[in-house]
Amino acid sequence: MRNNKKVALITGGAAGMGLAVTSKLVEDGWSVIIADINHDIGVQAAASLGSSTTFIKVDVTNYDDQVAAFEKTIAIHGRIDFVFANAGIAGRADFYDSPDSWPPKPPALQVEEICLRGVVYTSYLAMHYMRRNQPPGGVIVTTASAASIYASPDLPLYSAAKHGVLGLMRSMSEHLKNEGIRIHSILPGAIRTTLHSEGIWSQFPKGDFTPIEEVVSAVLGLVNDPTSTGKAMEISAGEVFDRSQPEFSNETMRRIMTGKSY
Ligand code: NAI
Repeated sequence: MRNNKKVALITGGAAGMGLAVTSKLVEDGWSVIIADINHDIGVQAAASLGSSTTFIKVDVTNYDDQVAAFEKTIAIHGRIDFVFANAGIAGRADFYDSPDSWPPKPPALQVEEICLRGVVYTSYLAMHYMRRNQPPGGVIVTTASAASIYASPDLPLYSAAKHGVLGLMRSMSEHLKNEGIRIHSILPGAIRTTLHSEGIWSQFPKGDFTPIEEVVSAVLGLVNDPTSTGKAMEISAGEVFDRSQPEFSNETMRRIMTGKSY
């Protein structure tokens, strides 16, 4: 049955930051679709949060899965106000290891598939479904990473994917400015979720972690600010930094990059 609650779709909503944002939204009176590949924890999360949540099993790398989740959201709730494109993995591929055969086999690109392709699909579908809202509009937040702006020597493919997520957001935000569709990214540091094993997390000094509540608060801040778009919020152990794109080098570059040259 439809009501006046606001509606969110959250990829990777069954664990970690996605679950924390889902819980807060439910507390604030939203209806939330949890779109996650992990059926067991997804069902469990939806059951524990109550009737305002619905779990849909989605592999974000599969376009048809994502379309089905958006369609089901519309079928149940009639609109989508907020999409959190958040599902991801760390993808510790052995990029630098010596190959066991020659020429080297192609590198494993699963992290690109999930963290970049998945976010492209989610953001693209969010834009099209939000254009059909009455009135049109909505807000998208993509989960990028500190690895979107800093080199991450141990995770080059993760960093490449997350740089892509930031570039997508910045480009879309400019284009969608006048359509009432806002899009932002969060760039967290280290959050002790199931992204890495405890074996890896236990090597981090405790003070290096950012409490998950800070991520939730940054996401909700972006969602609830009706005017801003294109923000990239770095979140690091108690501090939040608004990371604008670099200044244009000169007027020629401004013209080229803002589409005024053609
Ligand atoms: P998490 O592992 O606790 O949660 C990730 C969720 O994504 C899980 O529920 C998982 O089942 C789901 N997922 C994974 N692959 C999927 C797929 N193909 N389709 C649908 N769902 C899928 O990890 P966390 O930390 O909450 O990660 C959320 C996002 O935050 C990811 O994009 C991650 O890259 C990003 N991030 C995490 C940081 C951290 O330190 N934990 C730091 C910066 C960014």
